[in-house]
Amino acid sequence: MSEMTKQGYSYDFDMFSEQGREKELKRLYTQATIAKEQEINFIDSLQLPENASVLEIGCGPGFVTGILGDLVPKGTAHGLDASKELLEAADKLVKPHHSNLSFFEGSAYELPFQDNTYDFIYNRLIYQHLNNPLKALQEANRVCKKGGMVTVLDVDAGMQLIEPACPAFEKLNQLACEAQMKYGGDRYIGRKLPSLMQQAGFSKVDFKVLPLSSLDFKLADYINITTRFKAMIVGTSEANQLINEIDNFCNAQKTEPFVFVSVFAVTGIV
Ligand SMILES: C[S@@+](CC[C@H](N)C(=O)[O-])C[C@H]1O[C@@H](n2cnc3c(N)ncnc32)[C@H](O)[C@@H]1O
Repeated sequence: MSEMTKQGYSYDFDMFSEQGREKELKRLYTQATIAKEQEINFIDSLQLPENASVLEIGCGPGFVTGILGDLVPKGTAHGLDASKELLEAADKLVKPHHSNLSFFEGSAYELPFQDNTYDFIYNRLIYQHLNNPLKALQEANRVCKKGGMVTVLDVDAGMQLIEPACPAFEKLNQLACEAQMKYGGDRYIGRKLPSLMQQAGFSKVDFKVLPLSSLDFKLADYINITTRFKAMIVGTSEANQLINEIDNFCNAQKTEPFVFVSVFAVTGIV
């Protein structure tokens, strides 16, 4: 786990065992598609031209880059990530199904692109892992075209609830916040994004909330994508015990518990 602090972010695919990597790829796929309709509606609201050049920073295995590629059929969608292995997965699993995708290895802090290159840059669930979000935003600002847009979509740990109350769910969230912070991440990044964008020099910063609830997705999928990564980053037997308690709690209810979560989408113009 100490490797993660060296790299300056709290997500590292290498920290998974061989078997764990396969599960993590599945988790990332569910995470990429669980609220696909709401996310596409949000991106549509940005009115990207069909020939836009798009970059996804922190693209992981590229599932979302593929969605972006479909939204700009006459343009291009590039994905960039620090993980060589996740990029290999993107090249294998996603690229063959689209004609306008390319994937690049690199760091959000030092993008391997020239100034003024992209019409739109999307950052999805990467900023919670960055220890220097301002530097990454300044770098995104540099490679975005003048008049182009940069969006950061991420969580805020204060914007999640479960009813009936489940102490194990709350405890795991708290432990995950502490663990992620230790490795340089920040699960409260959502609320900080508007002023970080302003500090990075963006104008017309816009703040949208994407409200999601267990009426929109399968509760088991949500519990899986939110708890497995948390337990892994916490890395203690207590965390695994909490996952069991959450599963038992959900199974013991007469009706499925209700979960609500808000994701923040903050957009600035260069
Ligand atoms: C949780 S995954 C999100 C993947 C994808 N955006 C999605 O929403 O499905 C976070 C990704 O950010 C990448 N990442 C974290 N820090 C990074 C950095 N400093 N530069 C580039 N990529 C980074 C990780 O390798 C990982 O693939």
